[in-house]
Amino acid sequence: PSILVLHGPNLNLLGSREPEVYGYDTLADVNQKIVAAAPAGVDVKTLQSNAEHVLIDAVHEAKAQGVDFIIINPGAFTHTSIALRDAFLGVTIPFIEVHLSNVHAREDFRQQSYLSDIAVGVITGLGAGGYVYALQGARVAVDLRKV
Ligand code: DQA
Repeated sequence: PSILVLHGPNLNLLGSREPEVYGYDTLADVNQKIVAAAPAGVDVKTLQSNAEHVLIDAVHEAKAQGVDFIIINPGAFTHTSIALRDAFLGVTIPFIEVHLSNVHAREDFRQQSYLSDIAVGVITGLGAGGYVYALQGARVAVDLRKV
């Protein structure tokens, strides 16, 4: 099985970007934790982009490559991107939405997500651990073919 982990805009700044909100791990640290937590036999690839179209193209390519599951932190595109939503609807690859911070404890504009209602699940506020829990959730979902 294969899992694609997508990191959206500004997540390349992790470690120095509002660390009291997003933590002190760099994106490289987070990716290392993700790869280390990958279940045996599962191929995990990660990609970060600040560009909406690159993330959309990655979702399309995932379909062509037969990727089984996507874990995505869409960053601010969570709250703005109908195009990213449509990409997921278009490929029907199951996905989990992850946020480092607890978006529900923050500004009103972060309460709206264009992805949550079509996600398998949402993990928010558990820092970098959220990606590790999402990997576990992805494996369960794929194993049980509940997706
Ligand atoms: C975020 C939350 C978003 O509201 C914000 O725009 C981000 C990061 C998070 O991981 O907590 O860029 O997705």
